Amino acid sequence: MKDTLILGIESSCDETSCSLVQNGCVELATVISSQIDIHKDYGGVVPEIASRQHVKNITMVLDECLTKANKTMDDVDAIAVTYGPGLIGSLLIGLEAAKTLAFIYHKPLIPVHHIKGHIYANNLVKRLTFPLIALVVSGGHTELIYMKEDYSFQKLGGTLDDAVGECYDKVARVLDIPYPGGPLLDQMAHQGKPTYNLPIPLNDDSFQFSFSGLKSAVINLVHNELQRGNEINKEDLACSFQKVVVEVITKKTMKAIEDYDVKNLIVAGGVAANKGLRESLTKTCEEKGIDLTIPPIKYCTDNATMIASAGYYAYLHGKVADLSLNAKSSVPIEED
Ligand code: KG4
Ligand code: ZN
Repeated sequence: MKDTLILGIESSCDETSCSLVQNGCVELATVISSQIDIHKDYGGVVPEIASRQHVKNITMVLDECLTKANKTMDDVDAIAVTYGPGLIGSLLIGLEAAKTLAFIYHKPLIPVHHIKGHIYANNLVKRLTFPLIALVVSGGHTELIYMKEDYSFQKLGGTLDDAVGECYDKVARVLDIPYPGGPLLDQMAHQGKPTYNLPIPLNDDSFQFSFSGLKSAVINLVHNELQRGNEINKEDLACSFQKVVVEVITKKTMKAIEDYDVKNLIVAGGVAANKGLRESLTKTCEEKGIDLTIPPIKYCTDNATMIASAGYYAYLHGKVADLSLNAKSSVPIEED
């Protein structure tokens, strides 16, 4: 069978990225231009600045990707692009680039849901085996998804308020840890002890999550201690916070695995980089004989490699859009 080369484009938040992936699993080249250093000064992503940076970067990133892979647009079979969910102004830049390329070079345009991209990051590590449970943990999402087969997604539950990555970033901010706080808080958690008592959020049998109460509990604790003139042991607080987060995510994920009788678990999204979560899932899956895949860090945070991989399977399933395709800031995974 002829190889299929997909050009992936991702610009949903603060990373401008292009990637060339063959047959959904062979990465030829990826270029990512991150804006973290620019947004750091503001303590979070500033949407207006993010879109302007995407405009500045997109052509360069595309050229560099094609050069790196020693390919031209003529070699590309289809163009896969993140159309949502994400920051609308950011999404529009990648989408316009993809539509322009599709129009000029007469290539099919494949719309990719950002979270489906995160899920297919695992396909770059190992071919997905079905049925499986996908745990999606990122700055905007905390979801458990059941996949019966390729490109079939059933949402079992998700967060009722803050996403887990968002909660990490907000807790980090109250501890004066620079943006993005998640990775640093994770490091600090490993240097501390779980000495602070924090509530386990939505500790029930459902597949729903809630992190805003936990976030408020940490913020209140910090304010109360400071008002009393007490010092906070940041490492211990990070460790106590991470322990609760990891415990509740591990418990609900393992329940989904049992209830849906699957043997495969994949983890996706920026928080899949979390060392505490990786350790906990690895240990629990080993004990229960579950085959666990967690992508390496470079595929956990936003990148176009995962979009090209998901795009390949979307293409095989006939998902092709016309040039009226628009960006959407929010799209439930089952409505994509
Ligand atoms: O998937 P991603 O790159 O962007 C979204 O689509 O949201 O995820 C970014 C999120 C941020 O909230 C960041 O703080 C968090 O992932 N993150 C982490 C870690 N690395 C990134 N959170 C906890 N521990 C980490 N090691
Ligand atoms: Zn993401």
